[in-house]
Amino acid sequence: MISETDFILDSYDFSLENGLVKWEAPSNIALVKYWGKKENQIPANPSVSFTLSDCKTITQVAFSKKENSDEFSFEFMFEGKPKLDFHPKMQQFFSRIYAYLPFLKSYHFVIDSQNTFPHSSGIASSASAMAALSLCFMDIERQMKPMSDDFFTQKASFLARLGSGSACRSIKGNPVVWGAHKEVEGSSDLFGIELTQDLHENFSNFRDTILLVDVGTKQVSSTVGHNLMHNHPFATQRFAQANQNLSEMLSVFKSGDLDKFIAIVESEALTLHSMMMTSNPYFILMKPNTLEIINHIWAFRNATKIPVCFTLDAGANVHVLYPDSYAKQVSEFIQNSLSDFCHNKQFIEDKLGKGAIKLV
Ligand code: PMV
Repeated sequence: MISETDFILDSYDFSLENGLVKWEAPSNIALVKYWGKKENQIPANPSVSFTLSDCKTITQVAFSKKENSDEFSFEFMFEGKPKLDFHPKMQQFFSRIYAYLPFLKSYHFVIDSQNTFPHSSGIASSASAMAALSLCFMDIERQMKPMSDDFFTQKASFLARLGSGSACRSIKGNPVVWGAHKEVEGSSDLFGIELTQDLHENFSNFRDTILLVDVGTKQVSSTVGHNLMHNHPFATQRFAQANQNLSEMLSVFKSGDLDKFIAIVESEALTLHSMMMTSNPYFILMKPNTLEIINHIWAFRNATKIPVCFTLDAGANVHVLYPDSYAKQVSEFIQNSLSDFCHNKQFIEDKLGKGAIKLV
């Protein structure tokens, strides 16, 4: 079993003066949710997600050797402009990953990041952002020490996890499992792994349309949310349920049983929100329009028998999931019936993707 220390390299074979790397990493949407964590971003239960295609972060890192190695030195820019309010988060990320990337204090970094989705959309960009940045750092490390593709991917996911837990699922495509699970060989609490089994054709090009119900900043940060699972009265049952739902989801990926898929995905979304409603303090993260949308999806599914369902993150926005073969009908339904419940009628059409890509 791989442990944290396996990600610490003894020495580097080559030294670099300067350079530039660039990666894009996608967002992901959890089907079985991660909610609750232990020390050092270790998940309380395993989760599985679909990797998206078009919602992504593109990050470029220029690096140059500096005189001393006393402290971290970086500039962070968002869409080409300095973004000072992101510095504390970046500083914290550097500190967390320094033990695994000892070169970090020897260079000055200019990090320039941009998202393909509107940054005021309320979509969590931390997963794609932390994944893209981790891949850039791993790319630099790989230039100093040749390594296998598997090690590169695992360590990139491991580092991304330290930035934002769910970010470790944003490196690869196919469904990604994060968290040790008895039925998933090689699964680990330390990083996400791509499932090697074939995905049933019902899921090829599977669609995710993200309905932007609330575009403000998050009412409850995910750190606060995860912490509410400590001493939560239903925590033990919830973690057991997630393990069970992941087992069942693995069968669904093989069988393509969409009714079962819908039952697991919607229950997971509502359970996540139930955990928030039953924690101390308690929160309601849905908005009235979130419920309107859910009810409309249920009515549409009943009337048409089209296997469309919803999932939610820890917020009010709704992800509408459906097979590619029904894209036309569901698109029309979203445009005609659901967009009225969105902020400025905004929604983002996305689909399953293949994972991060090296650009430079
Ligand atoms: O990665 P974090 O700490 O922002 O947590 C994300 C948690 C959920 O999005 C609600 C669920 C998940 O598994 O992605």
